[in-house]
Amino acid sequence: MPSVATERNTSTRRARVLVFDSGLGGLSICKEIIAADSAIDISYLSDNAAFPYGTKQAPDLLRRASAIVLAAQQQLQPDLLVIACNTASTLVLPTLREQLDIPVVGVVPAIKTAAAQTKSGCIGLLATPGTVARTYTQDLIRQFAANINVISVGSSALVEMIEAHIYGATLDQLQLGRILEQFEAQPGGQDIDMLVLGCTHFPLIAEQISTLRPAWQLLDSGAAIASRVLALLDRESATGTGHTLAQPGHAGLRHHAYFSKPLEQSARLNEFLDKLGFCAAQEFTGA
Ligand code: DGL
Repeated sequence: MPSVATERNTSTRRARVLVFDSGLGGLSICKEIIAADSAIDISYLSDNAAFPYGTKQAPDLLRRASAIVLAAQQQLQPDLLVIACNTASTLVLPTLREQLDIPVVGVVPAIKTAAAQTKSGCIGLLATPGTVARTYTQDLIRQFAANINVISVGSSALVEMIEAHIYGATLDQLQLGRILEQFEAQPGGQDIDMLVLGCTHFPLIAEQISTLRPAWQLLDSGAAIASRVLALLDRESATGTGHTLAQPGHAGLRHHAYFSKPLEQSARLNEFLDKLGFCAAQEFTGA
């Protein structure tokens, strides 16, 4: 993992982190980062012009996601980048790491943790169709869950429902129920005791999923990503970049949220952003 260039020695500057997703799911990761350290300055970028990513062909997605992330990196000059999208991370990380000299943290399904914790030997993986089909994901399963029954459901419909929900639509509980039933419809599905939320949109409706499947333990990667971000920034701050970290009770810092497609201002979205500590949505003009 590369370290931040040491000549950028701004002794009191806060660490700047760019968090990227196709839509609003990456805000579930921001929430964890902000909870872990309120003094990190976050720029969030949603590539809503190309949303959803989960149904895109791999070469198109690779091209699109790397181009917009590199443009944002140029414009916003973060110290660290988080690809808060399983669908993109399982594809673009090698390209981005090759091209950028800042740490790039990816978000991938927590299959290893679920496989280590399941008591029944059967876990569910709820992700996008792209993530479920990805070689990266299949390798994770082979490597860490070889003796576990991993039942996968890929749903882009659920991603779109959640996105619309944050913009103000009601979440259709019946449709959510039908999506979850796809787990029990597969061999061994009645034995699931853990559900891996392999898309960053899904933690945003963890409560609703738990209401429908109270026996399932839900697992997402948010807290682990926040720890990783802090560890990387802290390590780099120790090497002399001088980022200020961990200022408990820090007040007044507003994060920024950018969107690749101009938005009709949505009161619900801005309310959601505001609760997380973000300014109102802005257009990203660098793409
Ligand atoms: N939030 C993204 C993920 O973690 C995907 C959403 C999409 O399909 O665009 O996979």
